[in-house]
Amino acid sequence: MEIYKALLEGNRKWVQKKLEEDPHFFEELSKGQNPQILWIGCSDSRVPANEITGTRPGEIFVHRNIANMVVHSDMNLLSVLDYAVNILKVKHVIVCGHYGCGGVRAAMLNEQYGLVDNWIRFIKDVYRTHQHELEAIHDEELRFNRFVELNVVEQVFDLTKTTIIQNAWRERNAPVVHGWVYSLKTGIIKDLNVSFGSSQELPTIYRINGNGVPA
Ligand code: CO
Repeated sequence: MEIYKALLEGNRKWVQKKLEEDPHFFEELSKGQNPQILWIGCSDSRVPANEITGTRPGEIFVHRNIANMVVHSDMNLLSVLDYAVNILKVKHVIVCGHYGCGGVRAAMLNEQYGLVDNWIRFIKDVYRTHQHELEAIHDEELRFNRFVELNVVEQVFDLTKTTIIQNAWRERNAPVVHGWVYSLKTGIIKDLNVSFGSSQELPTIYRINGNGVPA
């Protein structure tokens, strides 16, 4: 069977299974969504947000790109973030990277891959920021792992620098922003403990006042 036909077949079986478990499953979901979580993850096919967290459709609002980046001029990311924070009013935003990330690995190399090189340059900036720590790690695999972690930490910081997150903190003391890393080898997610829920926890230079409120 051609692979795309297998997907349609898989869909029919999934619908059947869901309806056997709960005859109202689709009827209920079709009424609307109220996810508590925004997930910013990697496009990698091995890191599906719902499956690895044991969550159901309707529970996680998802944005994925190569190497789970938060680029502050990315209109796609900003639109998803603004909608999730200000309309859906999610309580948590999770940046989830993964060990073995091809985007992060490419950022450690000096090869050309095409258009994606422009995207990978943002990851190289993370490397340069943490160059001393990374180059003190002589084992290449361990250095790669740490680079994946530091990239997530920097994307968490980049989220907290946005007016979207800081205005929400001021207005409703939420969402809390988190950084996680998933292991392809074990399936386990590691919490990097870089959670932020207020601009008081940020370096002064990145704190943004409310509109018209003097410093
Ligand atoms: Co990846």
